[in-house]
Amino acid sequence: MTAAPLRPAHLRLGVNIDHVATIRNARGGLHPCPLRAAELAAAAGADGITIHLREDRRHITDADLDRLAGAVALPINLEMAATDEMLAIALRHRPHAACIVPERRAERTTEGGLDAAGLLGSLQPMVARLRDAGIRVSLFIAPDERQLDAAARLGVPVVELHTGPYAHAITPDAIAAERARLAHAAQAGAALGLELHAGHGLTYDNVGPVAALPQLAELNIGHFLVGEAVFVGLDAAIRQMRALMDAARA
Ligand code: PXP
Repeated sequence: MTAAPLRPAHLRLGVNIDHVATIRNARGGLHPCPLRAAELAAAAGADGITIHLREDRRHITDADLDRLAGAVALPINLEMAATDEMLAIALRHRPHAACIVPERRAERTTEGGLDAAGLLGSLQPMVARLRDAGIRVSLFIAPDERQLDAAARLGVPVVELHTGPYAHAITPDAIAAERARLAHAAQAGAALGLELHAGHGLTYDNVGPVAALPQLAELNIGHFLVGEAVFVGLDAAIRQMRALMDAARA
């Protein structure tokens, strides 16, 4: 008897709607509404909604979080800096997941991974409080074994691998080297028992080689989808990204 072919596991797509709020905030009113974007994303096949409540509230605001938490049927992944303020907010809202990210006020977007290895002592109590509240904790880290080991020592169930250096690499050699780092980290993370997510800078053009990494369970994608939505609509942009992810897994 021949064995049935292995079916590739569903790779979840978390749609980051921060930049719907960025566009709204440019004029200060209510349009476009992040909740409407979340509802559209759900209808288009997103598996989760990701939002980053930044210290300076440059896109998602506390009022957005209130509204989304009460109304979105999909699991919410709250990206947050490792601060007391964000911990209190996360404990109040109890999102499905919290992804701890490094945050610097002056940066345009999250530029590097969290130094989990260097911050082990200060992260420990925060991870414990989130976990005790039933929140699935992840750490946004560079695809680096030292950081993966630190995540495993902290006992988090999930890490999100930073795909920014891969996405921003220009030459074929640099792209291949960054993709190899991601592949190696995905293997090493899986061997440590971590669930692996990835994100940052992913587009139609570069998502395939990342989506093809079999250890990955979820991609979080935002800026490109919101940008593309200007031309084709959010529904079509998400469906196209979903199709490219599925094709890479097939
Ligand atoms: N994952 C994390 C942890 C992020 O900080 C971001 C950017 O907010 C993303 C994923 C999504 O990146 P992008 O908006 O470039 O798709």
